Formats: sequence, C-alpha cells, structure tokens
Amino acid sequence: MRIVKVPLGRRSYQIQIGAGLLNNLGRECARLKLGHRCAVISDRNVAPLYGKRAVHSLERDGFASFLLTVPAGETAKSLKTVQVCYDGLARHRLERNSFVVALGGGVVGDLAGFVAATYLRGIPFVQVPTTLLAQVDSSVGGKVGVNLEAGKNLVGAFYQPRMVLCDLTTLKSLPPREYRSGLAEVIKYGIIRDRALFEKLEREMPKLLRRDGKTLADIIARCCQIKAEVVGADETEGGLRAILNFGHSIGHALEAISHYGKYLHGEAISLGQLAAARISSSLLGFPSPEVERIAELFKRARLPINLNLAAAQKPRLLRAMAVDKKVRNGEIKFVLARRIGRVEIGQRVPPNVLQRVLATGKTSS
Ligand SMILES: NC(=O)c1ccc[n+]([C@@H]2O[C@H](COP(=O)([O-])OP(=O)(O)OC[C@H]3O[C@@H](n4cnc5c(N)ncnc54)[C@H](O)[C@@H]3O)[C@@H](O)[C@H]2O)c1
Ligand SMILES: [Zn+2]
Repeated sequence: MRIVKVPLGRRSYQIQIGAGLLNNLGRECARLKLGHRCAVISDRNVAPLYGKRAVHSLERDGFASFLLTVPAGETAKSLKTVQVCYDGLARHRLERNSFVVALGGGVVGDLAGFVAATYLRGIPFVQVPTTLLAQVDSSVGGKVGVNLEAGKNLVGAFYQPRMVLCDLTTLKSLPPREYRSGLAEVIKYGIIRDRALFEKLEREMPKLLRRDGKTLADIIARCCQIKAEVVGADETEGGLRAILNFGHSIGHALEAISHYGKYLHGEAISLGQLAAARISSSLLGFPSPEVERIAELFKRARLPINLNLAAAQKPRLLRAMAVDKKVRNGEIKFVLARRIGRVEIGQRVPPNVLQRVLATGKTSS
C-alpha cells in the first residue's frame, strides 16, 4: 500500500492507494475516530458491485451504516439528488458526529461531498473513489458541488475529506472508455508538472492499458502526490492550483456544446490539452516535437486527437468558452506550456491565435 499525505495543517489527510483497501474501510474510519453512524452514498452501477463490501467492512468495526443509492451519471449531480440525500440522512438520524462515505466516481464524490459539507452545517466525509479519474483527481483537494441548468459545478464548496481510500481492485470493473478517459488526467499531470512521469507513461502505456496493478499503484500515487502538493500550496485556487486546468477551457466548452453527450470529460480535455499545446507553440515557444509527443501519447491511450469541428460549431465553442466560470471581466486566462513538465498560468491568448488553432480542424498536425 502507498500513502500520500495532503498537507493542510489541522485538516491534513491521507490518500491510501492499494489493492483490496475497501475491506479496510471500517478499520480506517475507526482509526480516525469517526462517529458511530454513517451513510454510504453510491450510484446504481457501483452500489451493486461494491456497496455490500463497504457496509460489511464498516459493520465489522462497529459502525451502523446504510447504503444510499442515487442514479448514475452526470445528471445525478443536481440539487434534486442533494435533497434526496438530505432526506435519507435525516431519516436515518445522522447527527453532527455521523459521517458520509462517497463510494463511486467523481459524480458521487462531488455530490456526497457537497451533502456532507452542508448537512447539519457539515459532517465528516471519506472518499472511496472507484474510477481512475476520481482516484487521481476529483477525490483529492476538497472541491465538492453540483450542477445547475445554467452550467456545471456552479454550486459548491471547498470541503476536505478526512481520508481518501483508492482501492485499485475496483478499477477492474470500470468500462474501457471510462478508464481511458481517466488516462487523460494522468497524462495531464506529466505535462503540467512532471516530465519524468510523462516519459514513464510513454514507456508504460501498454501496461497501463492492461491495468497492471503495480504500474497503476505507482502512477496513481505519483498523480495524487502532485495534486496533494498543488492543493497543499493553494487550496482555494488563488494561483498555482489553476495549473490543474490545463486543457480545460477548451475541453469544458467542447463538453458544453455537445451537451455532455458526445465526449466523456477525459476525451474533451485530450482535445483541449492538444489545442493548448499548439497555442503554447505559437505564444510561448513550446517545441513542436513536444506537441507531437503529446498527440502520440493520447493516441496510444486511444484518446481522440482530432477536433473536427463543423463550421457552425466554431463560434459556439468560442461563446461557450466565454461563459466558463473561470472567466474574469470577459477575459479567458489560459494555462500554457513552456515544455513538457512546465506550465504557466494566467496567459492571455489573442483571439486570432485561438481561432487559427481551432480552424485547422486538427489539434495536432
Ligand atoms: N471535485 C473535483 O476536483 C473534480 C475534478 C475532476 C472532475 N470532477 C467531476 O467528476 C465527475 C466525473 O467523474 P467520473 O469520470 O468518475 O464519472 P462518474 O462518476 O459518472 O463515473 C463514470 C461511470 O462509471 C461508473 N462507475 C464508477 N466506478 C465504477 C467501477 N469501479 N466499475 C464500474 N463502473 C463504475 C459510474 O456509475 C458512471 O456510470 C464530473 O462531474 C466532474 O465535474 C470533479
Ligand atoms: Zn478534468
């Protein structure tokens, strides 16, 4: 088992990474001296696979727990589902010292974390992420929240979990497309912060695609370490944390104009990262051969690299970028790269450069 610490003073916590850790859930919650009662919030795909094991582990260590199952998919990240969860928590008499376990992907983690942050003005919660994306990204760092009709993640809080338990065994049941989508975030960590990680991914992509246990443990631990370091330095995104948004301005806009239907998040940010790399070539002298290396790695991870926007979609994409919540005073600030492993935040991109990159149809030549 590997342990990564998220350094946030009194709110510091551990990320544990290893095979079969779900069976230790109860023991770890006992170690943290969490209260007697808890709700395990999960979704309709994950609950039948892992719900019982989570509840049994908690009960073995003397916790009174119940499983609260919400629908699967992005639409469950809504205030309506939050209300359903509050009602469930109240019905089972969860109190101030009770806690919530989020068992699932990023949707369950963001939703259950928000429920925990607000029920009785905040009760402790534990993340048990079961997708690759959730293990390397969404479960760490304390951003929790839900979507509104007007856009994604518009209601939320910074609310740190008490622990993150990444059971690598749960990744075995993840559908291939979801797994590959998580790889886009893994590659992102290499580009923004760790050239050696990027090179390791170039060497070990076949093993990673096979979901080899040792490779996964190494790589997930490294990604968590990077996220922990960044969040530890800038919890509420005053500066450094913005590097995690590399490729996300264009990626989010692509998701929005396709109504969250055509692309999974990781697919959209693969295209977004490549576009950002090309813009970086124009503006920061990011070497062209490195753009090609990034494209090649996404391709080997079987992630999309060609944007292929219809003419009518280009203005829609630009408009969607302008309503992103990270835009301030109408100006989009990009994260751009100097070289693989090093990025700069707050970069202004002239409209003509953006349009040229989007117009080529390809994010890579
Ligand atoms: N809080 C953050 O910092 C942060 C960061 C990145 C993304 N996010 C959010 O995360 C969400 C996306 O997360 P996601 O990609 O994990 O999606 P998800 O939670 O929808 O999971 C993807 C699909 O896989 C299923 N699934 C989950 N684990 C499984 C398993 N082990 N076996 C079989 N099926 C399984 C789910 O039921 C779902 O159908 C988005 O809402 C995004 O906004 C949050
Ligand atoms: Zn992302």
